[in-house]
Amino acid sequence: MNNRMQKRVGLYPGTFDPITNGHLDIISRAVHLVDELIIAVALNQNKHPQWSLEERVQCIHEALIEQFGGVCQKLDHGGCAIKVIGFDNLLVDCAKQRNASVIIRGLRQATDFDLEFQMCLMNQRLAPDIETVFLVATEQNRSIASSVVKEVAILGGDVSSFVPQSTLKRFQKLLQNKK
Ligand code: COA
Repeated sequence: MNNRMQKRVGLYPGTFDPITNGHLDIISRAVHLVDELIIAVALNQNKHPQWSLEERVQCIHEALIEQFGGVCQKLDHGGCAIKVIGFDNLLVDCAKQRNASVIIRGLRQATDFDLEFQMCLMNQRLAPDIETVFLVATEQNRSIASSVVKEVAILGGDVSSFVPQSTLKRFQKLLQNKK
């Protein structure tokens, strides 16, 4: 980054209930686009998340350490600082509070597009200075969705190729508690 240029901050929001390899795929590519990447975990009570906001944030931290290494408080990948935060306000307000000029979203398939388009237009109206950038998911991650992975894991299916170890451990704990 040129010292005279402003640091480019990107915000990658989602519910992350839980984080999957699909999300990690987007994160590992987004770090090349910004100087600081903030992974913003939405409280999103409407979705009745399985895990609390704190647990989802913690799970992402562990997944990032697994993926990129480093110490929890100081994650850095290829010159991009990575932070994980929770938020329960408007996405654009959260972005403004963190000086983020870019919102990053992943697109897996055509069916994602309508909703993403609608959210993007609304966010554009609310905060014209903030751009939404879409990254297309890589082939092997196109069929992954947190709720599907959750359902398979809870019914005893093997989800080890869809999620990082940190998520797998949470599924194991969940299954133990259900016994
Ligand atoms: N790989 C794998 N899965 C992916 C993925 C990827 N690259 N990208 C998205 N997904 C999945 C998620 O796992 C999730 O699956 P699920 O629905 O089965 O749980 C689904 O796609 C969509 O989830 P996510 O990307 O987390 O979006 P969301 O719809 O849960 O949350 C917010 C969207 C948080 C960005 C939105 O609700 C928001 O902005 N909230 C704040 C309040 C606000 O400002 N509202 C107005 C918005 S205009």
